[in-house]
Amino acid sequence: MTNTQPVYTVAVAGLGKRGVHHAEALSKNPRFQLVGLCDIDLPRLEAARQKFGVSYGNTDAAQMLNDTRPDVFVFCTLPQIRMPMIRAGVEAGVRLIAYEKPVAMSMNEGLEMYDLLHQAGIKTVVSHQHRYGDHYQKVKELIASGSIGRVHTVYGHATGWMMHMMSHMVEYATWYNDLAEVEWVAAQAAGKEKFSDVHASPDYICALLQYSNGVRGIIECGAGAPDVPEVDAWWRKCRIGAQGAEGFAEVLTGGGWRAMTKNGFLSGPGGMDYEHDMPPYIQDIASWLDDPAAVHPCNGEQAFKGLQVMMAACRSVVQRGKVTLPLGPGEPELEALERVLPG
Ligand SMILES: NC(=O)c1ccc[n+]([C@@H]2O[C@H](COP(=O)([O-])OP(=O)(O)OC[C@H]3O[C@@H](n4cnc5c(N)ncnc54)[C@H](O)[C@@H]3O)[C@@H](O)[C@H]2O)c1
Repeated sequence: MTNTQPVYTVAVAGLGKRGVHHAEALSKNPRFQLVGLCDIDLPRLEAARQKFGVSYGNTDAAQMLNDTRPDVFVFCTLPQIRMPMIRAGVEAGVRLIAYEKPVAMSMNEGLEMYDLLHQAGIKTVVSHQHRYGDHYQKVKELIASGSIGRVHTVYGHATGWMMHMMSHMVEYATWYNDLAEVEWVAAQAAGKEKFSDVHASPDYICALLQYSNGVRGIIECGAGAPDVPEVDAWWRKCRIGAQGAEGFAEVLTGGGWRAMTKNGFLSGPGGMDYEHDMPPYIQDIASWLDDPAAVHPCNGEQAFKGLQVMMAACRSVVQRGKVTLPLGPGEPELEALERVLPG
C-alpha cells in the first residue's frame, strides 16, 4: 500500500533548547521535512544543520522563509521576538506558524499579531505541550468523567515567574474547566527584581478568574506561590487541578497525579518529559493541516485567550479591581506594572 499522505515542509528559527526539541521531533516524523534552519548564533546553527542533516541555514529568519517557502514555520526565540517572526511567516505565505509561549510581551503586541494572522488565514500553535503528559491527561479524564462531581474551582500555581509559567497555568486550568471563557480577572502582584529578566515579570502575581460557567479560577506564579514539596525539580513545582462538589483531581508537573473521587483516593506517577510530549504535539500539527476539523489542542486562538487573562491580571494590579475580557489595546502592561509596584 502506498502512503499518499502529504509531507509538509518546515523551517525552524531559534535553535536553543526548545528549537532543538522541535527540530528533533520534526526530523523523526515522516509527515515533515526540515527544509531550513536559522539562528543568529552561527556555531549553534551549524551544529543543528549537521545534527539534522539540513543543507539550508541562515541567520535571518525572513530570508530563510523567502528562500525555502515552507508550509510550516516554527520559531523558538526568547519572548522579545514575536511580532517580526509572525510578520515574516505571514509575508512568506506559510500555512501554519508554531511558536513558543509566552504569546506576546503585551496585549498590544498580541492584538497586532492576531489581526495579521486572522487576515492572512494562518493557523497557529503555541507550545503548551505539557498537556500531552499522561498524568495531565489522567486528571482531565477524571474531571470530565464526573468523578469529582460538579467542578466549582480550578487552579494552577508555579514557583516559576509570570512570563515563564502563567501561560501554562492558565491554559491547563482552563482546559480542566472545559475551555470556558474567562469573564473577568482580579489580581495582585509584588516585587520588581524579575523585571530585569528576559522573561520580564513581577516576582509574584496572583489572579482570581471568573469563568462564564460560574467556576472560579485561582492562578499564582513566582516567589510566594505555594511550594510543591513532593517535587524536587524547581521548575516543575506546579500544581494544576480542579475541585468539585465530591472531590478533587490535580497534576503535579514533576510528581504524578492524585485525586479524591466518588470512588475514593486515587493516585499515579508521571513527570513532564519533552521526549514524551513533543512527538504527539508535532503529529497534531500534521493532523490539523490534513483536516481543518482536527484543530490542534494547543491552538493559538486558545493561547491568545490565555494571554488576555495574563494581561488582564497585570491591568488589574495597575487599575485596581476587576478587569473584564476581552481586552482591547492599552498601556503596555509590563511597563505599567513595574511603574506602580513599590521597590
Ligand atoms: N514550552 C515549554 O515547555 C518551554 C520550555 C522552556 C522554554 N520555553 C520558551 O521557549 C522560548 C525559547 O526558550 P529557550 O530556552 O529555547 O531559549 P534559548 O536561549 O535556549 O534559545 C533561543 C535561541 O534563539 C536564538 N535567537 C535569538 N534571536 C534570534 C533571531 N532574531 N533569529 C533567529 N534566532 C534567534 C538564540 O541565538 C538562541 O539560540 C522562550 O519563549 C521560552 O519561554 C518553553
